[in-house]
Amino acid sequence: MSGSAVASPGGGPAVTALHGKDLLAISDLTTDEISLILDTAEAMQEIGSRDVKKVPALRGKTVVNLFFEPSTRTRTSFEIAEKRLSADTLNVASVSSSVTKGETLADTALTLQAMRPDMIVLRHASSGACHLLSRLCRAAIVNAGDGMHEHPTQALLDAFTIRERKKRLAGLKVAIVGDLLHSRVLRSNIGLLTRMGADVWVCGPPTLMPADVARFGVRATSVIDDAVADADVIMLLRIQLERMQGAFFPSLREYFRVFGMTQTRLRLAKPDVMIMHPGPMNRGVEIASDVADGPYSVILEQVANGVAVRMAVLYLLAGGVAHETAA
Ligand code: CP
Repeated sequence: MSGSAVASPGGGPAVTALHGKDLLAISDLTTDEISLILDTAEAMQEIGSRDVKKVPALRGKTVVNLFFEPSTRTRTSFEIAEKRLSADTLNVASVSSSVTKGETLADTALTLQAMRPDMIVLRHASSGACHLLSRLCRAAIVNAGDGMHEHPTQALLDAFTIRERKKRLAGLKVAIVGDLLHSRVLRSNIGLLTRMGADVWVCGPPTLMPADVARFGVRATSVIDDAVADADVIMLLRIQLERMQGAFFPSLREYFRVFGMTQTRLRLAKPDVMIMHPGPMNRGVEIASDVADGPYSVILEQVANGVAVRMAVLYLLAGGVAHETAA
């Protein structure tokens, strides 16, 4: 995906539209396109503060939300985003679809494509599932989380939340702590934050540390105090027990003792640190409840911003351009 070549005489966005058909991974986006999505999300956020939270931007467009894995935040925020943009939306969950009768993902995709949707939002347990849909479907495909690969709209909403508070991404120390090995949120956040100039540290048990993670321009450590020292942002990642086969650490209690985010560890970070978590949280495992609910936590802001960021992604993929944002 490459941005359209539009001049920015007044220092405005360097691009005003996305050229790509899909959003499958952060690497699909140029840095200018990332900025465009975040800027567009600011306009979309304003729509959410109106009494009538609806604009006609996607009127006549059909969006299918195809979720093959459980989701609360991503599925509901995509649906709210679609409705706020006046799209016709429908939700297909694997448990109520013909997947339970043995239909393949490819046949499901071709079946849906025959009904000519404009966009398909896909969550799937297999890394690369959205790439398969992209090849089979004319509809724009939005990756809502594919296996252990990527969750690009989560990284975009995380960046939006950081930028809204700190007014920048470049130069910030962002410590990402938790189950690094199984996290698609980590992969998307590394891709986005390093390219936007953040100083990204990753921290977790050696057994949950991807072997090649330093290759992506981050600093890796298993000493949490080093990771969170002077951090501007601390992002906790969920221990994904459902993706683990075998023991990666002695016990959840031991994990919390060594890697859990506590008030004591919080004091090592910058005084205005932001505590983030993509959810769902395991309280008392990766994060103490008094930190999750405390004054530094922006976890519910992340959820709220998810709607505006997904509105921006859908709007721009449907062909919207920045200067026409909203109505
Ligand atoms: N962050 C996230 O993807 O949450 P859900 O699984 O609830 O969608």
